[in-house]
Amino acid sequence: MAERRVMTVGMVCVDIINYVVRFPDEDTDVGSKSPLEVPGGLGNRCLDQQWCRGGNASNSATVLSLLGANAEFFGSIPQGDLTSFFEEDFRRDGVHVDRCPRLPARTPTSCVIVSAASGTRTIVHSNGDLPELPADALRHVPLREYDWIHFEGRNIANVNKMVEYVRAEREKNPELKLTISVELEKANRPELDTLFSLGEVVFISKDVAMSKGFTDMESAVRGLKARTLPRSVLICPWGELGAAACLADGSVVTSQAHRPPSVVDTVGAGDTFIAACIWRLRRGDPVNRALRTACVVAGTKVGVKGFRPLPQLLKDSGLLHE
Ligand code: FRU
Repeated sequence: MAERRVMTVGMVCVDIINYVVRFPDEDTDVGSKSPLEVPGGLGNRCLDQQWCRGGNASNSATVLSLLGANAEFFGSIPQGDLTSFFEEDFRRDGVHVDRCPRLPARTPTSCVIVSAASGTRTIVHSNGDLPELPADALRHVPLREYDWIHFEGRNIANVNKMVEYVRAEREKNPELKLTISVELEKANRPELDTLFSLGEVVFISKDVAMSKGFTDMESAVRGLKARTLPRSVLICPWGELGAAACLADGSVVTSQAHRPPSVVDTVGAGDTFIAACIWRLRRGDPVNRALRTACVVAGTKVGVKGFRPLPQLLKDSGLLHE
């Protein structure tokens, strides 16, 4: 049988990324000319602008593929002027999209501002009117071809049903060796909490942990572990402080962050972290090793624009062999 695939389920969108000197003041017009050339210039400038494919599941599939995994994205692709852009871009990164429905809809789009001064990325997103995957979308997927399915926590009702389906299939067919992971990223959305008990690996963002009153990563994973299945691992990346995980036996492991020479582009850093973690865990590596690798890969990513330079940078640095 061909090498099993890892599937990421969620959204693809267009990211219009504006790299600026600093976050703009409201009601100003930031162009690409140097502030010196602009009379009364506010000392701000658009350093670069890129259109790229984005979305958490789409980004994670990209990084998994760049790390060498047989990766597939599963989500709705808008049918229209940008269909071939998405298909070609996925193809360039080696990500399979053969099962994705193509649906006539406006393209989900994010306008992103990346500030060189603060290293932040600010995202304004609209999902257009693209329907998300229906609850029964996985019924037509031959699950034996996969060993890992990762769900981005978006349309919760449907994600719940999809996970239930995969679990039921696993019980019926013990030969299905499939790990389920889920991501809770958005804070203050209590409906996301049902996801805690869905995956064997549960990723929560720093925002989610903080919205639940935690101020550090160790207490967050320790405090929230009880919400997961007893055998699950709960993982929380915490930006420049690194990441922590609480294991099935209640013990906590951590990793320091990896600092790039300079912070260039933090868009998709969390998605990169998740991808690198899954990449290691899928190979049977222990959680502490997965955390370390995920911090290295995510830290390397924030030092460059986009994801494509990652394989070469990681090869040159030798950091993956640590
Ligand atoms: C980064 C990202 C972007 C996208 C946004 C959607 O994590 O996936 O690519 O625009 O988040 O929330």
